[in-house]
Amino acid sequence: MTAGVWWTDDPKMRMLFSVAGSTGIRGLSSYFFAPKLLLGADGLKALEGVAPTLTRSKKALIVTDKTVRKLAERVQAALQRAGLTAEIWDGVIPEPPLENIQAGAEEAGRLEADLLVAVGGGSVMDATKAIWLNYARPELDIRQVKPVDPDTLAVVPLGVRSRAAMVCIPTTSGTGSETTATAVITDGSQKKILNHPELVPDLAILDPSFTAGVPPKLTAYTGMDVLAHATGSVLSHWSNEYTVPLGYQAISLVFKYLPRAVQNGADSEARYKMAVASNMAGMSFGNAAPGIEHAMGHAFGKIFGVHHGCAVGIFTPYMMQYVSRHSERFLDLARHLGVTGADGREIMDNLLELYLSFMRSVGCPCTIEELGITRKQLDENFEPLLDYTVSDACTLMSIRPVTRENYRKLYLCAYSGEKVDF
Ligand SMILES: [Fe+2]
Repeated sequence: MTAGVWWTDDPKMRMLFSVAGSTGIRGLSSYFFAPKLLLGADGLKALEGVAPTLTRSKKALIVTDKTVRKLAERVQAALQRAGLTAEIWDGVIPEPPLENIQAGAEEAGRLEADLLVAVGGGSVMDATKAIWLNYARPELDIRQVKPVDPDTLAVVPLGVRSRAAMVCIPTTSGTGSETTATAVITDGSQKKILNHPELVPDLAILDPSFTAGVPPKLTAYTGMDVLAHATGSVLSHWSNEYTVPLGYQAISLVFKYLPRAVQNGADSEARYKMAVASNMAGMSFGNAAPGIEHAMGHAFGKIFGVHHGCAVGIFTPYMMQYVSRHSERFLDLARHLGVTGADGREIMDNLLELYLSFMRSVGCPCTIEELGITRKQLDENFEPLLDYTVSDACTLMSIRPVTRENYRKLYLCAYSGEKVDF
């Protein structure tokens, strides 16, 4: 499998995505997609009631990984109580490559399942979306599945629901994948984005007991992913009247409940609120766009082996500074968080300090240097890092265009924590 054959590399799609977020185009055609939600500690009991309505054949494949297989077994028992045949496939590997997707689709085919239930974090949920697509449409090259046709601007139907329905039960509070149309798939050495409106799951269950076992560091890192999604989304020109309040509420919940969830994993109220925050942030950016912290985080995370949430967390304050020189949306965000100042520059400085001190308070690094990566290592990898960052789909959706040289400067600022002054 080689890069360069993805829809995100098609010059026509790149041109379309770089202009499609403009107010004029979004005003003509916007959207808001979301799954049905079952919320709270009785989530599995609720699933027992709903599952039979989602399947004709009463055959479900639970897609998971080996780390959270025990949680998948709880779901299996619930589906069996509901009268379904439920098998577990725990073969998802982190940052799933295309080959992993094909293996999962073969499992679904062997069982002839018409219900796919993802139990896991972002990798599992993303893999399941791609498995769902590959299972329903094996003749399609998923790299070429586009969110819209670039010539007609219409959504090309996939018909995935003619084969199966999909349920997500997230076991981390971070990616919001249970609510988005997006899946991040690894192709060779790059992370690529699959996106189609039909890939929004049918149902998501947010049950705090499914995230109770996440260790403090991973809780903090996944929480940073939530903060990055929501912050990028509210500052994005792709945002609309639905996505902005969801983003603000997600940010408020993160500031209030993430420290508690990190400090005490058994705090079920904090776990629940973070599950809701993750979902709200997912709805927000999934119907708008994340910021360039995600383009940088995807590329940087892949090259240096850094956790996705940790990476996008580091770059979020730099994205905020960069776009604040082009758009005044940060003033609304500051107002929402009670941040004041004598002028725009001072408000941005105070907002920045709030984010950085919060990140430090939950044990997250704020610079590349704090990760133990040397300047020499950064320099040695700089050109491929910039190649991947520029080609990332999130680059195209930035409210302020980003050149390769601007990305170089942003990485250098993020290396040692310098302010963005360009
Ligand atoms: Fe993310």
